[in-house]
Amino acid sequence: MPQHPSGAEKEKAVQAMFSSIARFYDLNNSLLSLGLHHRWKKRTLEAVALQPGEKVVDVGAGTADLSLLAAAQVGEKGVVVASDLNEPMLRIGLKKVLDRQLRQVRCLLGNAEGLPLPDATFDAALTGFCIRNVSDLDQGFREIYRVLKPGGRMACLDFSRPVQPVFRKFYDFYSFTLLPKIGTWVSKDQTGIYQYLPDSIRKFPDQEGLKKRIEAAGFKDVSYQNLTGGIVAIHSGIKE
Ligand SMILES: C[S@@+](CC[C@H](N)C(=O)[O-])C[C@H]1O[C@@H](n2cnc3c(N)ncnc32)[C@H](O)[C@@H]1O
Repeated sequence: MPQHPSGAEKEKAVQAMFSSIARFYDLNNSLLSLGLHHRWKKRTLEAVALQPGEKVVDVGAGTADLSLLAAAQVGEKGVVVASDLNEPMLRIGLKKVLDRQLRQVRCLLGNAEGLPLPDATFDAALTGFCIRNVSDLDQGFREIYRVLKPGGRMACLDFSRPVQPVFRKFYDFYSFTLLPKIGTWVSKDQTGIYQYLPDSIRKFPDQEGLKKRIEAAGFKDVSYQNLTGGIVAIHSGIKE
């Protein structure tokens, strides 16, 4: 990964990394978060309070964990679009969808910065650990806003900034030192994704900073909740 990639260069590097580790993504997620990512994802679903029959888009769905949770809540009369730019990641998501015979889930290859979806279509939008990876996060939020119906709800789950200074020190040691070693060893990765991960978290806006960026995209009633001491945060907002 180049030192400070942006635009198309960042997109290419990020996609190469996800293609490289797609097969190990779920395993590494569970190992590196000590299983916590399941809880974080369930809490993200709670933030949008889905109803049976609703239409949901999962932006940067990857291996489709959030989409599967959403499918259970909207039921057979609902629709879940699991959208991602990375084919190897989305293929793993598609396999899970087919194994569970979830007819309400559609997998769609597409860029979060230009979603191949019509305006004002969805009751809710989810995005988990994706927005940090897109080249232009403001454009990502504007796209989510565009495809939501008026009154539509959005929840964004991503890494953030631990609140307690002592905990932050411990977390920095873990994420800069241990995590890259374990992640790289498990996936035999050669693209540097598990070094990119802590670097990308440090460059990503903190809780308040991200709230402002979401508001700038047009969302109202934007708020956030910290989980696991602020390692991750769920931001939510409403399209007026
Ligand atoms: C860390 S994974 C998260 C996957 C899943 N949402 C989860 O929570 O486990 C990030 C995903 O974002 C996708 N992604 C990154 N940039 C993207 C973009 N510009 N458009 C669409 N997807 C993108 C990657 O391909 C990858 O599948």
